[in-house]
Amino acid sequence: MMLRDSTLPYTVAHRGLSAHAPENTLAAVRAAHRSGCQWVELDVQLLGDGTPVIWHDAGVRRCSNRRGKLFKFDRETAKTLDVGAWFHPRFAGERIATLAEMLGLLNELGMSVNLELKVNRGRDPKILTDTALPMALEALPASRLIVSSFNRQALESARRLESDGRRLRLGLLYDQPPKEWRAIAERLNAYSLHLDWRRLKEKRVQEIKQAGYRLLCYTANDPIAFTPCWQWGADAVISDDPGLFTHYLPSTG
Ligand code: G3P
Ligand code: MG
Repeated sequence: MMLRDSTLPYTVAHRGLSAHAPENTLAAVRAAHRSGCQWVELDVQLLGDGTPVIWHDAGVRRCSNRRGKLFKFDRETAKTLDVGAWFHPRFAGERIATLAEMLGLLNELGMSVNLELKVNRGRDPKILTDTALPMALEALPASRLIVSSFNRQALESARRLESDGRRLRLGLLYDQPPKEWRAIAERLNAYSLHLDWRRLKEKRVQEIKQAGYRLLCYTANDPIAFTPCWQWGADAVISDDPGLFTHYLPSTG
């Protein structure tokens, strides 16, 4: 059996501690830290002026007090958005986090990140990767960073920027992996696969583990329903509320 990687946690807080704070914000990362979570998953994409920010959607409507496409904002206008009040009034005044600000906070708190290169429709994967990745590599040691994406071009650009798999761990994100996932993982010198836990099958987990890759499962908030995934060999769960899993981790039975 493959030894467990000491730099991989059992739980990762999805978009920060998004069950208890507005997703992908500095507040959500602080909340994850306060709850004892060492790892967060965060989405990064670019504003219209090329500033990388921590944001999931193509638009700002769901998670702010305004409407419009994210790329229509520049740094100055994006900073006028209230990205906290939609979640709860006590987060009113929270501002969109630039990647630089977020990396600063992660370092201040000694935290680790699964940074997802989020390529929304019509956006350029290479420009996103070429902008965001060097910043992440500069700010964080390899042991505190996993870079993932649903977008193959983004991952290919990332591997071109850093060819050493020990210096940059890449995760392939899939709802369901295609038949040729193994060839893709080999070509990218990938570290992990990040799969939708609801579609996971035991056979697929075995294939992934036997091929030597780590398996992270998103986005699970039901620790009892998730139990078979641990039994099959999942390495980590990405959850909006990792505290729910405290008594259901493999090491604690
Ligand atoms: O990285 C796991 C998960 O975040 C992927 O889906 O849509 O929440 O970014 P999404
Ligand atoms: Mg994500």
